[in-house]
Amino acid sequence: MKFKTIEWKGDRVRILDQRRLPQEVRYLDCWDASSVAEAIRTMAIRGAPAIGVAAAMGIALAAKNVHFRHPRSFIKSTEKVCEEMRQTRPTAVNLFWAVDRMRRILDQVHTLGIEKTKTKLVREALRIYEEDVEVNRKIGGYGKKLIKNGDGVLTHCNAGALATAGYGTALGVIYAARDEGKRFHVFSGETRPQLQGARLTAWELVQEKIPVTVITDNMAGWLMKKGKINLVLVGADRIARNGDTANKIGTYSLAVLSKYHGIPFYVVAPISTLDLTLASGWDIPIEEREIQEVTHFRGNPITPKGVSVFNPAFDVTPHGLIHAIITEKGIIRKPFHKNLEKMFATPKSCTERFPSGAEAPLGRSQTVPYRTRNSKGA
Ligand code: MRU
Repeated sequence: MKFKTIEWKGDRVRILDQRRLPQEVRYLDCWDASSVAEAIRTMAIRGAPAIGVAAAMGIALAAKNVHFRHPRSFIKSTEKVCEEMRQTRPTAVNLFWAVDRMRRILDQVHTLGIEKTKTKLVREALRIYEEDVEVNRKIGGYGKKLIKNGDGVLTHCNAGALATAGYGTALGVIYAARDEGKRFHVFSGETRPQLQGARLTAWELVQEKIPVTVITDNMAGWLMKKGKINLVLVGADRIARNGDTANKIGTYSLAVLSKYHGIPFYVVAPISTLDLTLASGWDIPIEEREIQEVTHFRGNPITPKGVSVFNPAFDVTPHGLIHAIITEKGIIRKPFHKNLEKMFATPKSCTERFPSGAEAPLGRSQTVPYRTRNSKGA
């Protein structure tokens, strides 16, 4: 990739500011954890895996910069930062997964002492970053066989290098197929209201010289009807035990359209996006964002003043509409409730990520729609 989504610089975290793309390639230097949290909240960095990496680096940065003599004070101050990160965005489970990994290192302070724990926290954040790139390449390796020469591949939002530590999930599959010499065409849905498809996916693919056509979200059905699309690949923010998948708003509509037209609809995600503590998608907390994202376009109002607006950032696609889930462990097919649990139960790396009895990142009782500060909702 010709750019870095996020970078650990030792004394700061450098983030490619995605709010400015594609007009400007500008990096944000975050010198403290609060600016990392703000970058996540305001979507300077976004995409489930990238949010997790950013949160981990923010925690490492905060821990590195404090001076305490007593482990208890060190834990208290770092735990506060973990909580600040947890409050940034509610739907992508990778955020809570990454914070939990950092939290487990923090617990070792009683045996390691403060200085060694600081070093370990930095190392863990870097490991989360490096693992993500590796995982995405593996996902690409499994997924590439699903793309055939001449295919029209539709993707939604941005599940590319910009949404991860590098390479991407849904776009990772596309990069891997391209690297194998396959020729196909990508359609990128614009993804109202934040336009991740039009701004970010199109930007990534143009740089990689992969043929891409941007369509508005309401064009997908017609393109399917005309036979232009024969595969749909989307990312995920949280996958429940039964395979129900939360992803960017509009994903559900594409899944319904795909079913109607007989087009295979695949979810592409790392294992860290699975939330086996949730039985179904009904329990996934859905972020509602500021109404200005809908009422305004680049600062200009596009709706009448005072109109009622609803702005859920994600929807949930029921497992019945999903053909299969492409992960770094392979392609998971139906029945998802059996196959996801089987995968989770056996390999060591999976049990490490979700130790049995681990606390749910967001429990069933907390599934009320999330509202960001200042949001009024519908
Ligand atoms: O609101 P965003 O831009 O963070 O939403 C991103 C998505 O919905 C992605 O599809 C998902 O996080 C997967 S990224 C590999």
